[in-house]
Order: sequence, then structure tokens, then C-alpha cells
Amino acid sequence: MDNSRGEWSSKIGFILAAAGSAIGLGNIWRFPYVVGQNGGAAFVLLYLFFVIIIGLPYMFAEMALGRSTQRNPVGAIEALKPRSPWKATGYLGLVTAFGILSFYAVIAGWTVGYISKMLSGRPGGFAAFIADPLLVILLLALFLAVTALIVHGGVAHGIERWSKILMPLLFIILVGLVVYAVTLKGASAGLSFYLKPDLTKITGRTMLAALGQAFFSLSLGMGLMITYGSYVSKKMNMVTSGLSIALFDTMIAIMAGLVIFPALFAMGKSPEAGPTLVFVVLPELFAMMPGGLIVGAFFFLLLSIAALTSTISLLEVPVAYLTDERKAGRKTVVWAAAFAAFLIGLPSALSQGASDFFTNFGLLPGRLASADFLGHMSFLFGDLSLALGAFLISLFVGWVWGAGRAADEIQSGSPGFARARNIWIFMIRFFIPAVIFVILLNLFGIFG
Ligand code: PHE
Repeated sequence: MDNSRGEWSSKIGFILAAAGSAIGLGNIWRFPYVVGQNGGAAFVLLYLFFVIIIGLPYMFAEMALGRSTQRNPVGAIEALKPRSPWKATGYLGLVTAFGILSFYAVIAGWTVGYISKMLSGRPGGFAAFIADPLLVILLLALFLAVTALIVHGGVAHGIERWSKILMPLLFIILVGLVVYAVTLKGASAGLSFYLKPDLTKITGRTMLAALGQAFFSLSLGMGLMITYGSYVSKKMNMVTSGLSIALFDTMIAIMAGLVIFPALFAMGKSPEAGPTLVFVVLPELFAMMPGGLIVGAFFFLLLSIAALTSTISLLEVPVAYLTDERKAGRKTVVWAAAFAAFLIGLPSALSQGASDFFTNFGLLPGRLASADFLGHMSFLFGDLSLALGAFLISLFVGWVWGAGRAADEIQSGSPGFARARNIWIFMIRFFIPAVIFVILLNLFGIFG
């Protein structure tokens, strides 16, 4: 292996870093509000189903691409099918990484701001908080600078070491919050909303929302698992690694729901608050509990930690491309990419009330995205490009590289995969692209 590229120092290091990428605002901020808007437990069941039958098999395809070629998303495709238009799929991944990083870091900045807001004893006033231009820009810059500092340390020394410290810490804080929330008076109504499925609530729209959430949450569709998979040694068992990543990611999302729903129902609030759920409802809740502001500060600390291991992974994708293909120095590349993400993030940061123009941007129709610039970025990069990227990558692996060759790559290090091989080949060639195609149609509003 080319030592200058780096390699994870251990299997657990890779699993923790990839799980760190997967676990983020998607699990703790997005998952509960999407569950709340889609009727509760029935949605949770569907989500679990899609993680297992779509997310996991697709994840093996990205990891196999990365390990087989030892390259970033662009280089991986170029290595297998030189000078073909498929290379554009790799570039789409890079652009998507920047796009997601730019708005994700804005929300991550709010979570950092809320740690001190909780400690200051004035947890309310979310609307004014996100409309303060200087504050949100400073928080965005801070978050990206911390991200760059860690990525700058390189693969094993930076990302892996930090993930080893941060992920177990996140888990411990979350366990404490779950215990606290489920013992609140009135928590049981929340538990039954969250855990007792009402199957009549499953509609076509709900199914597609569950699929989209599975992709975003597992960090799939933009080549992140190609990039992280490229630092994996040939001996590693991809199947058990992928299983652990999906298991950790799902556990954290389920636990986040176990904090939020009992708490919400104990307060007699509606689960349908939408994206503001975590930032508006929970601080109010924390403020009314004895000692709750400390609990709240811990909660936002946890959310910041989870977001950081995700922004690290988002920055690593373009950094891997630039260092592999452009032979640029890693340090220069890291800081230049972080600065670019900062510039692209500015309109998103200013789009929550600070600037009228970006707040009422309204380029896309309202059925696709909310009017503000951040809503546009979230739709374009968080939904549309991920689905398109996953569609193209599964077709590339299934038909261009060859599902058999990909299956051989997965099988090396995971001999037990032989038994699932034929099912997997069917999934990657037919089933997965077909299902994603349906998501894409939905994003364009075909189903109303
Ligand atoms: N999976 C991350 C989350 O749930 C978001 C993410 C998406 C990170 C795509 C990297 C790539 O927060």
C-alpha cells in the first residue's frame, strides 16, 4: 500500500470513523423530526427495513470501489473505466460533499452556540439567535476551523484518533439522557407514539421519506464510503464492518428518539414541530426541568460532537481527491477546502433572518424546498444529489465495473459473503437502482 496515502491503523478505527461520519445531525436532529412528521413508530419500522435491505448492501458497493482502487471517488471510477463519462459521478460526489458541508456546518455552529446559550440560563429566543449575522458567521467559521484542524492531522492520527475519543463519549452521554427522559412523568405516551406502530399511517410518501433518511443518515451516495474504504486493508472484513456501522448509526438514531419523544409528550407538545424540534422545543423543555439547563448543555455538546465527526468526513472527500489526483500538499488543501466551504456556507448562514435576500430566496418551488437559501442547499445536496449519486454508483458497480468483480472484492476478507453473493448481485444491479429511481421521481413531485 502507498504509505503516503495512509491506512486505518485498526479495524475498530475504521468502524469508529465511518460510524462517526454516519452519526450526526442526521440522527439526532433530523431523524426525530422526520419520525414526528411521518406518524411515529410505523415510520421507524420502515426506516429500519430500508437501512437493512437498501442502505447496507449499497454501502458494500461503495466500500468495495474504494478498497479495490485505493482512490477517492473520482480516481476510483477513472481507475476502473478510464476516460469515460462515468467520471462525472465522482465529481458529483465532490460537489455534493462541499454542498452538504456548507449548510451542515451552519447547523453544527448553532449547536455549539446552544451549549453556551443553555449554560447562560437563557435557552429561548431561537429565531433571534439564528438571525444574528455576526454570531452565526463566527460559529460557522469556528466549526469549520476545528474540522480543518482535525482533518489536517491526517487519516490515522487525525480522524481515527479523534473518533476513538469522541464516539464512545457520545454514546455514554446519550445513554444518560435516555434514562433521564424515559423516567419523566408522562413519558409513556411518547414511548407508545415512538414504538407502537400504527400501520395505517404508511403511505407512499412515508416510504420515500424513510428511504431518503436511510441514505442521508448512513452517509451514502456521495462517495464517502469509497473514500473511507480506500484506507481499508485487503484483509478487513467489509461485511462485519458495514454491519457494525449500520448498527451504531441506527442505535444512535433510535436512542435520540428515546430522548426526544418521551420528553415531548411529557410536556404535552406536538411531535410535528418539524426542523425546529431540537432547537425550539427541547431547550424549552430543559428550562422547565430542575437542573435541566445542564442536561441541555450536555445534549448540545453531544450534538456538536456528532456533527464534528460528520463534517470531518465531508471535508476528507475533496481533500482525498486533491491530494491523490492533483498531488497537492495535504495541509494547504485542507485549509483551502475549509475556506471554500466557509464562503459557500455564508449565504446559508445568513438565510435564517439575517439577510432578507437569502431568507426569501425562493428559487425552487415550495413543494421541493423551503424558501430560504439553506432549505435550497439541503434539498439540492442533502436529497437530490445523494439519491442521484447512489443511483449512478449502483449502476456503475452493477453494470460497468461488474457486480461479480465487486462481489469478489467484498468476499476477500469476508469469506462468509459467498452465501449472500447472488442475492447481493441482484440487489446492486436491479433492486437498488429501481428503488432509488422511485425516490428521484418523488423528489420531482411525481407522486404529488
Ligand atoms: N450521515 C451524516 C448525518 O447523519 C450526514 C452526512 C451525509 C455525512 C453524507 C457525510 C456524508 O448527520
